[in-house]
Amino acid sequence: MKKDKFIIQGLGGQKKLSGEIEINGAKNAILKVMVSSVLFEDSFLMTNVPEIEDLNRMIEIFSGLGIKVIKKSKGEYLIDSQGINGKEIDEEISKRLRASILFTGPMLARFGKVTFPHPGGCVIGARPIDLFIDGFKKMGAKVEVKDEKYLVTAEGPNPMDGQMKKLKGTNIFFKVQSVTATETFIMAGVLAEGKTVLKNVAMEPEIISFVDFLNSCGAQITGAGTPTIEIIGGNLLKAEGKNYKTVPDRIETGSFLILGALCAKDLKISHCQPKHLEILIEMLRDSGADIEVGEDYLRIRDNNKNNAEIKSINIKTHEYPGFPTDLQAPMVVYLTQVTGESFIFETIFEGRLNYTDDLKTMGANIKMWDAHRATVTGPTLLKGRELDGPDIRTGFAFVIAGLVAKGESIINNVYYVDRGYENVEERLRKIGADIKRIN
Ligand code: UD1
Repeated sequence: MKKDKFIIQGLGGQKKLSGEIEINGAKNAILKVMVSSVLFEDSFLMTNVPEIEDLNRMIEIFSGLGIKVIKKSKGEYLIDSQGINGKEIDEEISKRLRASILFTGPMLARFGKVTFPHPGGCVIGARPIDLFIDGFKKMGAKVEVKDEKYLVTAEGPNPMDGQMKKLKGTNIFFKVQSVTATETFIMAGVLAEGKTVLKNVAMEPEIISFVDFLNSCGAQITGAGTPTIEIIGGNLLKAEGKNYKTVPDRIETGSFLILGALCAKDLKISHCQPKHLEILIEMLRDSGADIEVGEDYLRIRDNNKNNAEIKSINIKTHEYPGFPTDLQAPMVVYLTQVTGESFIFETIFEGRLNYTDDLKTMGANIKMWDAHRATVTGPTLLKGRELDGPDIRTGFAFVIAGLVAKGESIINNVYYVDRGYENVEERLRKIGADIKRIN
């Protein structure tokens, strides 16, 4: 792991950032599309791909599975699964990258068996995999645990080649809405026998874009963007020259919008989809931010209000289209700067407020009630500090805190920021931020 750090000279609450920042393709869209190559008999091109560390980890997993990923130009990658083998997913990477769990669905559906360790990823709560295990069992698979690994084997006959066993289409009701479980079982259903019905699924825009692409290549999936998805199983998919263009990253967009509300004189956020961020726009406007919403851009200007005129707001994280848990930490930084008491209720992950202790060392007034609830009282002047980013989203929230604060901040563990955001320091410098990377 690289040990880079950011050195930031804070603006001390002044609104100075100006210019344009372009949004990249969504991390949470491209990782799934890459995994779906397991369902294909040919190759396809992906465009608007963000050059982030999680992409590199995925590419490492692919090379072990015999799937080629060829970089054509910046942001353009060809993915070719014609040499795919049914080997095990690299254990070390899998333990570090939660998204590796996505492989289980298509691998099991295509090869009739899959072995994997408990996946890792950001340290944001327990992150169980019970929905995956229960779902595979419902599709007729046998699940065993051996040497701390899960061994899942399909039990049904495979009409395609008599040898391999096939998953059986069935009804699966998810006890909680899960993004990755929804995507995993969509992929499992594409090669399963008969109809799979998934209920209480996640409705994130990245899932809709993913399903649109699979359907354009021969899949039969209906209902994406609603609570129920139906998949009619069939043969391997064929891209036949079709490309996947990665949807803009709404979390990156939202993070820059929050930064803009705190530090911008006049900032345009372009190449984005404001319609995927209605909740954040609504809330920032409620609190007093001046936001212009275009078809594919957002513009945020200094509202010329002092902190006393910016209102506090209450946040409850929720599955899409509710307030994204991935924007909770940046939003808490915002709330340290507004007048009054804001209440935060993190409903998705129980470990996701732990970073507030670090913000307190900068001068924030935050009271934690329990692992899910906190109150922020503002406004407070934040002072520059040395902080360790514990995960992707908090790492970026600390960058925002460093830019708002007075004095110098050092953000360690920049590796986490690099996992989800491409070239952040250069893009921030372009709009006037004083941020340097030290190796
Ligand atoms: C995805 C996103 C992540 C985001 C999260 C919630 C990717 C690569 N990551 O993560 O950025 O923070 O959605 O929007 O897309 N759960 C179970 N059992 C399971 C699986 C999940 O109880 O088997 C629970 C989780 O503990 C959590 C909730 O479901 O409370 C939602 O998690 P989930 O949507 O699965 O998160 P990820 O897909 O891992």
